[in-house]
Amino acid sequence: MTVRKSVLLTGASGGFGMAFAQVLEQEGYRLLLHGRNTSRLQLTLGVLQHPERHRLLSCELSARKDVDALLESIADEDVFGLVNNAGHGIWGSFEQCEGVAQADVLRTDLMAPVMIAHALLPRLKRAGGFMINVSSLAGEAPLPYMSTYGAAKAGLTFWSEALRAELRGQLRIVTLAPGPSPTGFRKVSGAPMGKGSFFSTPITTIVHAAMRCMHQGGGYCVPGWRHRLLWLLITCTPRRLILFLMAHYLRP
Ligand SMILES: NC(=O)c1ccc[n+]([C@@H]2O[C@H](COP(=O)([O-])OP(=O)(O)OC[C@H]3O[C@@H](n4cnc5c(N)ncnc54)[C@H](OP(=O)(O)O)[C@@H]3O)[C@@H](O)[C@H]2O)c1
Repeated sequence: MTVRKSVLLTGASGGFGMAFAQVLEQEGYRLLLHGRNTSRLQLTLGVLQHPERHRLLSCELSARKDVDALLESIADEDVFGLVNNAGHGIWGSFEQCEGVAQADVLRTDLMAPVMIAHALLPRLKRAGGFMINVSSLAGEAPLPYMSTYGAAKAGLTFWSEALRAELRGQLRIVTLAPGPSPTGFRKVSGAPMGKGSFFSTPITTIVHAAMRCMHQGGGYCVPGWRHRLLWLLITCTPRRLILFLMAHYLRP
């Protein structure tokens, strides 16, 4: 019997997650598919060629005890790859959005990936595997009216890039920094649909760019020309101007 290498993929029930699941399966991996509810995860399982190969894991990533339970449940798995993909944001003024929900963005998008990576690192290194951290161009500049999301993604990008330097030659790490893409993200965050649509890039372009970057040894990956153009605009514009423009653009 072929023993397949396993990959833990968080947020497998969503847009990028479902696409990552399909590509990773095509590359021959056995998948540990994480989501919050199993019925949405079943949809991902339904688009895979060999659903019997994979395992479903349900967990609320904003709760520390649930993350611990998730890690406990895969303690015996030889994990070769980790895709820290799950995440969400909240659109609205910081003052008016509920405090716990805002803190949950930081717990889900930043704390959980850090905890999961730390627990799996010995196994990933031993296997000579890989880690893909799905951050965002939102991590390149402060984001008025999505302040905790921007803060979480800035933290994730800095952490992932620092880790990449620490583990150079030992583990392939990709810091993926996409801009807008047609997933469930905007609906969940409540952000208006039309804004930034010029920069919208297909889900498959993003996932294939991340996988290509991983196969080339890892790196900071801004996928597709539209996202690279957006990255250039964000990074070359003075901070004061970016803050003014983003506040104007994202104000509810
Ligand atoms: N789409 C974009 O424009 C865009 C741009 C840049 C970066 N990103 C990043 O891409 C990643 C994937 O998002 P997506 O765009 O594919 O959005 P999506 O379709 O909404 O998928 C998000 C995934 O994360 C899971 N998730 C969200 N909050 C969770 C929590 N508290 N605990 C456990 N799981 C949770 C969701 O599970 P449920 O199904 O249970 O909700 C779902 O599987 C996120 O990290 C996001 O920040 C997205």
